[in-house]
Amino acid sequence: MTKCITTVKEMQTLTSQFKREGQSIGFVPTMGALHDGHLTMMRQSRSENDISIISVFVNPLQFGPNEDYEAYPRQIEQDTQAASSAGVDYVFAPSVDEMYPNTLGITLKVGRMAEVLEGAQRPGHFEGVVTVVNKLFNIVQPDRAYFGKKDAQQLAIVEKLVQDFNHPIEIRGIDIVREDDGLAKSSRNVYLTEQERQEAVHLSKSLTLAKEMYDKGERHSANIINAVTDYLHNHTSGEVQEVAVYSYPELEEQDVIHGQIFISLAVKFSKARLIDNIII
Ligand code: PAF
Repeated sequence: MTKCITTVKEMQTLTSQFKREGQSIGFVPTMGALHDGHLTMMRQSRSENDISIISVFVNPLQFGPNEDYEAYPRQIEQDTQAASSAGVDYVFAPSVDEMYPNTLGITLKVGRMAEVLEGAQRPGHFEGVVTVVNKLFNIVQPDRAYFGKKDAQQLAIVEKLVQDFNHPIEIRGIDIVREDDGLAKSSRNVYLTEQERQEAVHLSKSLTLAKEMYDKGERHSANIINAVTDYLHNHTSGEVQEVAVYSYPELEEQDVIHGQIFISLAVKFSKARLIDNIII
């Protein structure tokens, strides 16, 4: 039976007790509106740990002034049921006042890794993410934490957070879960109109095109970026906000590709900004 916890004190008391008992804790941080991508992470957490915990918290710190904080889907009962079906033991769902009772006197600053890609488009976003993730790690005290590769920049930054601040936590990156037609699952897909939903399939198709170019030996990022950008312009009505090739996980721009890379794109539709990527 999945239990919902709303206070930091109760969550921390429970997790401290599990630690004393030598039970391993798996943790999936989320903002709710759970979909199959989250469920995959929860099942993995369930299978690798004694206790499985998720958080459902729409973190105001990571939303910019013109972003969808107010409109972000909130459906805690549905989410608790979904978590229960994936074998989660506890859903930690605090209020904003519970997480941030006072104005923060100390904040975390992400350096160069937040100045590119999503971070460049959304100033302050990754500071908000690492601040809440740092707090959640201290509250939940997990042994393993699960993050989707769809937010590959977030995953790289969280790995750096864990390394730089010595959190004794193993970060597990989970492959992107896609709809049958290839659209990456996202809580924001619900914002798409019918027409946009049909066009959105071309995000993953454009990444397949990029992979094909790479497989055929293309190593100049500009050629891949131009081909993907043209493809997206021709197949979607959305605004192509980003097509980029970066090293992964270092997140350094690559003119000529070598080593592991990450091709990332962002397309803004009328109400949804969709991102997708492929790590090669
Ligand atoms: O990926 C998300 O849903 C959020 O950025 C996270 C990690 C739960 C922090 O609020």
